[in-house]
Amino acid sequence: MYNFVSPLTIISGAGSLAKLPEQINRFNAKKVMIFADPGVIQVGIVKKVEDVLVGAGITYDLYSEIIPEPPVHIADQAVSALKNSDADMVIGIGGGSSLDITKAVAVLSKHEGTVADYLNLTGTKKLSNKGLPKILIPTTSGTGSEVTDIAVFSLESSKDVITNNYLLADVAIVDPELTYTLPPRITAATGVDALTHAVEALISVNASPLTDALALDAIRRISQNIRTGVWHGSNVKARSELSWGSLIAGLSFYNAGVSGVHALAYPLGGLFKLSHGDSNAVLLPYVFDFVWPSCIEKMVLMADALGVNRAGLSNREAAIAAVKALYDIVKDVGIPTNLQEFDIKEEYIEKLSQDALKQKRLLARSPKPFTIDDIRKVYTAAYNGKLNLL
Ligand SMILES: [Fe+2]
Repeated sequence: MYNFVSPLTIISGAGSLAKLPEQINRFNAKKVMIFADPGVIQVGIVKKVEDVLVGAGITYDLYSEIIPEPPVHIADQAVSALKNSDADMVIGIGGGSSLDITKAVAVLSKHEGTVADYLNLTGTKKLSNKGLPKILIPTTSGTGSEVTDIAVFSLESSKDVITNNYLLADVAIVDPELTYTLPPRITAATGVDALTHAVEALISVNASPLTDALALDAIRRISQNIRTGVWHGSNVKARSELSWGSLIAGLSFYNAGVSGVHALAYPLGGLFKLSHGDSNAVLLPYVFDFVWPSCIEKMVLMADALGVNRAGLSNREAAIAAVKALYDIVKDVGIPTNLQEFDIKEEYIEKLSQDALKQKRLLARSPKPFTIDDIRKVYTAAYNGKLNLL
């Protein structure tokens, strides 16, 4: 038996932002509050959204005190702002950080307490209602946050999440035109995050035929277009393919789950403030170098989706070639392929390993179980930049 959950309405494709007013009007909102980070405002994307709202006679407030990889106190401030506003609907615009805050804020504006009270690992309170209706508009092709009920927050040395169906968007608007101004480095990091969602969903112990179909199509589209999207950002086809790939990777991983790469990536974000995309990218090949023997059939499917020429290869060789293909993508899009290039010292491997082991919810989805020693070995391989296979 399989269960598949997604936002009620997903509108995608170039120009889909124009559908925003009719979606707001469905909820009879009198006023909306936009949550966006300063970077998205600076490049003019929020202005595009404001123009659409003004053109439709919709009044709005704008909240922009959002920072990347937000700690809980930043989300608490956003909750206060919404509680003090007369807005009855929220719109999140941006990358994962802005969308995660928007989801949490929409729900927590109708709850007592702080964001920390509702965290999965350390919180003590339970959510009781879905709060205000929410529309999410991603401006990167990466996190898939627009179709998941997960909001990630930074703690002192790691991360924790709020996950609850109440956080799901009512509407996701995925318009590739909003990604045209993304610089190469962010296109690379967010694109590899999306690819990581797809490959981790594919091998997850909770995968289903539906999540596999979405994951394989996402792997195909992202791997075929990420290099062009990064190095030729004005290529409309590559941007569209990455946008669609990220969306369906998000739907796939939201239902099948991510595992080892994300579990080991969280401590890199928490301890060293690496972006979520970079944290995943630098670990992606090394985690798959560890797990592939436990999921060879899925790795063969992945090899095909990654464009590996399997002629004359055994299934085992095809699985290994898929791991190498993941490494090549990370390298080709200009992301460091070892921890030393991020200035992370070897002495931190033990602390990173202990923190990653706490991500039991994620590690439980891996087809190959991780012991603490396995985790140390994967970090050590990533530190040295050495795949066993090379
Ligand atoms: Fe992710």
